[in-house]
Amino acid sequence: MSTIAASLTELVRQAAIAAGHEDAPVPLEPVVATNDPRFGDYQSNFAFRLGKALRVNPRGVATDMANHIPAHPMVAKVEVAGPGFINFHLADAWLGDAITERLEDPRFGGPTPGQGKTVVIDYSSPNIAKRMHVGHMRSTIIGNALDRMYRYLGWEVVADNHIGDWGTQFGKLIVAWRNWRNDAAYKEDPIGELQRIYKLFGAKSKEQPELVDEARAETAKLQEGDPENRRLWEEFVSVSMEEFNAVYDRLGVHFDVVLGESHYRDELPALVDGLLEQGIAHPSEGAVVIPFDASEGKGLSKAPLLIRKRDGASLYGTTDLATVRHRANTWTPERMVYVTDVRQQLHFRQVFAAARKMGFENDYRHVWFGMLRFADGSIAATRGTGQSVNLVDVLDEAVRRAREVVDERSAELPEEERAAIAEAVGVGAVKYADLSQNPQSDIIFEWDKILSLQGNTAPYLMYANARACSILRKAGDTPVGPITIGHEAERALAVHLLRFGELVEQAVHTARPNLLADYLYEASSLFSRFYLDCPVLKSDVPADVRSSRLGLVSATAHVMAAGLGLLGIEALERM
Ligand code: ARG
Repeated sequence: MSTIAASLTELVRQAAIAAGHEDAPVPLEPVVATNDPRFGDYQSNFAFRLGKALRVNPRGVATDMANHIPAHPMVAKVEVAGPGFINFHLADAWLGDAITERLEDPRFGGPTPGQGKTVVIDYSSPNIAKRMHVGHMRSTIIGNALDRMYRYLGWEVVADNHIGDWGTQFGKLIVAWRNWRNDAAYKEDPIGELQRIYKLFGAKSKEQPELVDEARAETAKLQEGDPENRRLWEEFVSVSMEEFNAVYDRLGVHFDVVLGESHYRDELPALVDGLLEQGIAHPSEGAVVIPFDASEGKGLSKAPLLIRKRDGASLYGTTDLATVRHRANTWTPERMVYVTDVRQQLHFRQVFAAARKMGFENDYRHVWFGMLRFADGSIAATRGTGQSVNLVDVLDEAVRRAREVVDERSAELPEEERAAIAEAVGVGAVKYADLSQNPQSDIIFEWDKILSLQGNTAPYLMYANARACSILRKAGDTPVGPITIGHEAERALAVHLLRFGELVEQAVHTARPNLLADYLYEASSLFSRFYLDCPVLKSDVPADVRSSRLGLVSATAHVMAAGLGLLGIEALERM
């Protein structure tokens, strides 16, 4: 279904043509929701801009165009306001019908602009033998929300977990493993022990530089297929993947493919040779680089991409070029999205520019995010100091705290259900704390805040949904709908609910899941106001009004469940 904004934009387009502006010197600007009901529900700024561009009075252009807006059951009134804005007031009857119609649709009438298009989304992408750090946690949560939203909009999504499972760190790890491992500790906590001995290697190799040579030799042996080193590498990969997969299970995250860096290892030497031959890459002081000029991206003229080291080794960026090639050839996607922290901005500018030189034109998007800290230091998460956070610890802590609240508030529920609620609330709260903020800002985790039942939190939204579900349960077999708008609070809720698809589009377009989070928060607040002002189940409510209001309750539950689902948060019907 098309969104209200898209339908109104189409009316403006027709009006522009009818008013003789088919060759307008400015692009047709989409109609947007107003944020002040005095100006109607939606507004078009197109006539204003057009008037400016044509150097005629924009108000006159707007008035003329408004007179040419075709009649449509959606629109009750068209008004010209201010210096040349066109305001649309939606018709109550249409609003009621539109919501009623969407009650049958689990997608709640969402648009599918992605139909026929493919996007590859590269997210999570942790490194073997290391715990996921907070950057991977944010990448996993934000990336998965984008993944779900793209699918909702009809895109074919290839979610690819680009695991860091190849490189010189394995030689070091193998040396450390042979010399210093503690088998009991490894059995207890494999990644913890691997991290410990890897760090130890760092410290010891400062005093014993011969360790570095040894590690280099072990890396080389691994690359040549030495069976013992190969076996160790496989072991490290498998224990790491086991831990990562436990996290993904708990977060409800699934990848379509997991093609780590090792997948591309054999093609890298030839890739670099080929780029040299084509003149895209150049030798530089014994190494190989891809140089750029200023027009190819911000800051790139002084930042060539290093793709082969002097010792012949390939690098992170080399693998990324092979990865782009593989993705382009395998899925011919319209778009490639990468979700990592802020520090990789330059890296991706280089990779995208280099890939373009190689002929892989694409709509590349680096979705980067800021840092995350825990306010009370309960969980060490300082980047850059070598400390890392165990995501499982974060989830456990959140669930433990959620459990305390659930036990207190819902003591009457059976143990098993309380445990399930605490898991959903705890995990949901962690995700929502991340997703409800602009990804590009640094965020601070405060347990009490993110688990609060008040304010813009997962528990508050989940509770609003559960309340809607509980009203529907209590209503028994009272008919739900059709909906007739009869009260201002009903109308405000209806207009907002119908905007759901638009918000998902905006959140995807800007790569900001927080737009959807804000939207759901607003929906919860409008629902509370509606429920306060408009009794549903009270005995003196006429039957048709009750059914109509139940329809709005049901629509709210639809939207909340769909919206929470897109953020990867379980919408419990009871809590
Ligand atoms: N493994 C990398 C890291 O931990 C992230 C990989 C992101 N994806 C990519 N195609 N480079 O920093």
